[in-house]
Amino acid sequence: MALPPSSIGPILDARLSLEKCSSTADRVSAATPLESQIRVVPPSEYKAAAQCLAEAFVEDLVIRYPIDTPDRAHWTEDQRFTLHRQALEYITYAHCVKGLVTTVGDDYGCVALWMPPGKNMDDWCTILRSGMWRLNFQLSSEGKKRFFDEFLPLLHTTKEEVMGERDDDCWYLVYLGTKVDSRGRGYARKLVEHVTAQADHENRACYLESSNDINPVIYGKMGFKFVKKIYLKRAEKAIRMDIMVREPMQTTTNGKL
Ligand SMILES: CC(C)(COP(=O)(O)OP(=O)(O)OC[C@H]1O[C@@H](n2cnc3c(N)ncnc32)[C@H](O)[C@@H]1OP(=O)(O)O)[C@@H](O)C(=O)NCCC(=O)NCCS
Repeated sequence: MALPPSSIGPILDARLSLEKCSSTADRVSAATPLESQIRVVPPSEYKAAAQCLAEAFVEDLVIRYPIDTPDRAHWTEDQRFTLHRQALEYITYAHCVKGLVTTVGDDYGCVALWMPPGKNMDDWCTILRSGMWRLNFQLSSEGKKRFFDEFLPLLHTTKEEVMGERDDDCWYLVYLGTKVDSRGRGYARKLVEHVTAQADHENRACYLESSNDINPVIYGKMGFKFVKKIYLKRAEKAIRMDIMVREPMQTTTNGKL
């Protein structure tokens, strides 16, 4: 069930609209250097944001799971990367229109896709507008089984099971990626804390699935706790994902812990 937009708390809205609407002069005069300011990505910029994610996740076993299939063994890496990038373009566009896409750093150095509480991208209008429907024709037969029959249902049922009554009332970090050249500058932390501060204010949890061995350590530093492992099983070797939840933390009136 979709919540009214007013239920997405006031602080983030105010901060985001400030960042969206402030003039260049305002921004230049601000103490923070421009390149480290957070911006909301509008639908018109979805391709550039998706390019960041495509680069960040180029070797990610989970995102590549429906693409690197035995029945596409004859494809070149260029063909696979193109499909990988296109799939991320569809999902990024869907989040621009139905969720929240943020970026920080030069040339979309780091990008986060969030689904706010009460929102989803499952409606036909979004599936059509974003181009997600094209995956039905672009993925191979095995790719479709992996994506539509295994991956999506597994993510859906796991989130429902882990979050229970709060499934529709939490912030969902869908993808977070930093281009290789932009890593280690605190960008990912910045984009995560941008929303976790809001989640704390709303007393809401944040949920994510992570696909890389080091990520639980990184997300642990941002207050997420490991909940369970899940596995994709259609490939030769099962692929593990870690489910993590960040419970809301108490804040004082000035927003500090
Ligand atoms: C995970 C990822 C987003 C981190 O991006 P980043 O912008 O380099 O991260 P930050 O610079 O904000 O670092 C955040 C914290 O994690 C730590 N960290 C980052 N990379 C690390 C690594 N490889 N090993 C150990 N710690 C690491 C940093 O030291 C920092 O800790 P601190 O703030 O306490 O000092 C980036 O490595 C990436 O895009 N990876 C591939 C895609 C991916 O796996 N995304 C996440 C799954 S959805």
